Amino acid sequence: MARIPVAGPWITQKEIDYVTDAVTNAWYGNHNMYHERFEKAFAAYLGVRFAIALPSCTSAIHLSLAALGVGPGDEVIVPDITWIASAAPISYVGATPVFADIDPKTWCLSAESFQKCITPRTKAVIPVDLYGNMPDMDAIQEIARRHGIAIIEDAAEAIGSEYKGKKAGSFGDTGVFSFHGSKTLTTGEGGMLVTDREDIYRRCLFLRDHGRKPGDKQFWNTEVGFKYKMSSMQAALGLAQLERIEELIARKRQIFAWYQEALSGVDGITLNYEAPGTKNSYWMVTVILDRSFGIDKEQLIRLLSEHQIDSRPFFYPLSSLPAYEHLAQAREAQRRNRVSYQISPYGVNLPCALNMTQEKVRYVCDVLRDALGV
Ligand SMILES: Cc1ncc(COP(=O)(O)O)c(C=O)c1O
Repeated sequence: MARIPVAGPWITQKEIDYVTDAVTNAWYGNHNMYHERFEKAFAAYLGVRFAIALPSCTSAIHLSLAALGVGPGDEVIVPDITWIASAAPISYVGATPVFADIDPKTWCLSAESFQKCITPRTKAVIPVDLYGNMPDMDAIQEIARRHGIAIIEDAAEAIGSEYKGKKAGSFGDTGVFSFHGSKTLTTGEGGMLVTDREDIYRRCLFLRDHGRKPGDKQFWNTEVGFKYKMSSMQAALGLAQLERIEELIARKRQIFAWYQEALSGVDGITLNYEAPGTKNSYWMVTVILDRSFGIDKEQLIRLLSEHQIDSRPFFYPLSSLPAYEHLAQAREAQRRNRVSYQISPYGVNLPCALNMTQEKVRYVCDVLRDALGV
């Protein structure tokens, strides 16, 4: 059997046709045609007013913080377990990240820990829909509202997930998505910022084009901004993928269901949680091993690799990374975030590329069961 990748896209003739059309025709007066279609369709899919296509989700978070006026002296709360891209832009704007603990079931920001991390300097919170799982949004929104804290919902990993009938990415002052090649919907590299707030939308359009008014033809800049734009070819790819979104999400859910079936009856393992009232789009099928197996994530990843299976470690707590060792906040988080430090050593993302088959899932699960001796 060929090596099994951990993640990857599902590209059809439709994507090839749209990208071919973009590279052929989206120039001159038509240079924006795929951006307009992609952004409009994305906003409609999410049920929000505005969407801005960007080069990455990292840039969407950076732009969100800048548009919200977050800067030096401010604190921004972020879950300890996430990809560093959720937190790095906090440093870009000169603010300080505060790492809150995660919930033991959803693995997303714990509302209780969020509340405890609030200080008079807290300006924003970045809840992350980890691996497609949804946090307790009602509680997070209520706490944020009560304290006047802005929400940037990091839905990079959660396109198609839902919470009480509302789509992931639509809960904050802004919501942000990643279309990196590993994601359910891909544009190769790319991202999207969504918002219902017209003031934020206008500010983002201005800041993402070097601080000039949209449509400016005089090269007249009134502030120093950023250059955050997606290309037409990427927008065309994104539009084709978005038109197939239900199929892409159904495949992800199918892959998860195959794992659930193949691992049913195995005690001591936990898969992604789908809380009542939520829909999980299962970007990454993730397994947490009970400590009693005596095997940690690094050991399991090595073992799977020997059998031609690629996997990934559950994120290390951000507060444990050398990148943050200079921060007092990180040392405090190491003491405080019991759940993050308990779960992280035993979590592994299993292969769930969109080309996964049931036969391959069964093979991965056989190897996993052997490794665990069950
Ligand atoms: C939770 C989370 N946030 C942000 C990002 C950043 O996305 P991008 O690579 O598009 O900048 C990722 C990407 O993997 C992610 O998983």
